[in-house]
Amino acid sequence: MEKKEGEEDPKKLQALVGKDGTKYTLLSTLGSGTYGTVFLAQKEASEETFAIKRLKSSANDIIMGMSMSAVREAAALKSLGAHENIVHLKEVIITPGDNTVCFVTELCTCNLSDLLLLSSSRLSDDGRNKKRLLSIPVIGSAMRQLLSGLEFCHERRIIHRDLKPENILVKEDGQGGFIIKLADFGLARPLMNAEYTNTNCGTLPYRGPELLLGNKRYDGKAADMWSTGCILAQMLNGEPLFQSSHEWILMLQIFHMLGTPTEETWPGVSGLPNYLASFPKWPCPGESVRAFAKKAVPDARRRKSFAMNSLLFKMLRMNPALRISASMALFCIGVHTRQNDRGDKKRKVDEI
Ligand SMILES: Nc1ncnc2c1ncn2[C@@H]1O[C@H](COP(=O)(O)OP(=O)(O)OP(=O)(O)O)[C@@H](O)[C@H]1O
Ligand SMILES: [Mg+2]
Repeated sequence: MEKKEGEEDPKKLQALVGKDGTKYTLLSTLGSGTYGTVFLAQKEASEETFAIKRLKSSANDIIMGMSMSAVREAAALKSLGAHENIVHLKEVIITPGDNTVCFVTELCTCNLSDLLLLSSSRLSDDGRNKKRLLSIPVIGSAMRQLLSGLEFCHERRIIHRDLKPENILVKEDGQGGFIIKLADFGLARPLMNAEYTNTNCGTLPYRGPELLLGNKRYDGKAADMWSTGCILAQMLNGEPLFQSSHEWILMLQIFHMLGTPTEETWPGVSGLPNYLASFPKWPCPGESVRAFAKKAVPDARRRKSFAMNSLLFKMLRMNPALRISASMALFCIGVHTRQNDRGDKKRKVDEI
């Protein structure tokens, strides 16, 4: 992987020492984002490899010498680590001297975004670029695992708040299958019934309309479900459903596709801080899954799975109160799986 500007060189960083004296040598960079750089690391005198995330800390995040976002991420991972579909945190190391917080986690193969890029850039036999998307059974398996991890978070009253393909890891299970792991809990928070401090959290194209409309009393579980719906649409279409780096444009894209919300479709919407009576009035595709899917999944061949389209419809309800929960979505997908998927929990990587 090419080194980005400002990215730390793993070769120049000292080996990290864990609490039982275990030494980890940083070998290469796996990824980097707003909150840190993730390195491939090897445990000394063994073949064992891990991923180590070195967190950047910003001055306004430090309280009593500790980075608050690091404390939150560690707390969320510690309380959730027992689930197969959540990345396992092995230990937290604080480097002496600069107090940098490092998370040692299980190593995954890639993230979901890499997988989507890989599948859509495959070449056809005649060497031309051919868009090949993930198969419906693979998408079904990925969704089932993602929802299972998310249901576990929500049952423990933790909301992720930054679900997107880059934060969903894919791990080969050594038997030709793959396991989905929810990762990057840097923005995770306990579920609240009170107001959150702000609504501009998470990555814009995956942000729900209630957040875009400025509702500080948003339902965190429903907001996570909106992001999950955007991820499902991206797996079906091979590209993000909504794409804009501007909140207002994104909001209009959503309204254009799903209809501008009204007091009838979403009671209370006109009282939300960013709602404008002058919004263009786009019609809602109605309560029919097929009419909705025609807009959200443009390629007719990708609309063949009614179960997937119906799930997408239920996840992308504009009114958060009508949006499906992770447990209900899992139930729906389970029913579909038993009928059409022979109940296989994991699908082969070769099928991708
Ligand atoms: N355990 C892991 N195994 C393999 N790769 C990983 C692992 N953890 C993270 N990565 C890679 O590093 C990338 C960044 O990780 P992560 O999302 O945790 O960092 P971040 O700084 O919070 O990112 P961002 O701000 O962009 O959301 C991931 O998208 C993934 O490609
Ligand atoms: Mg991330």
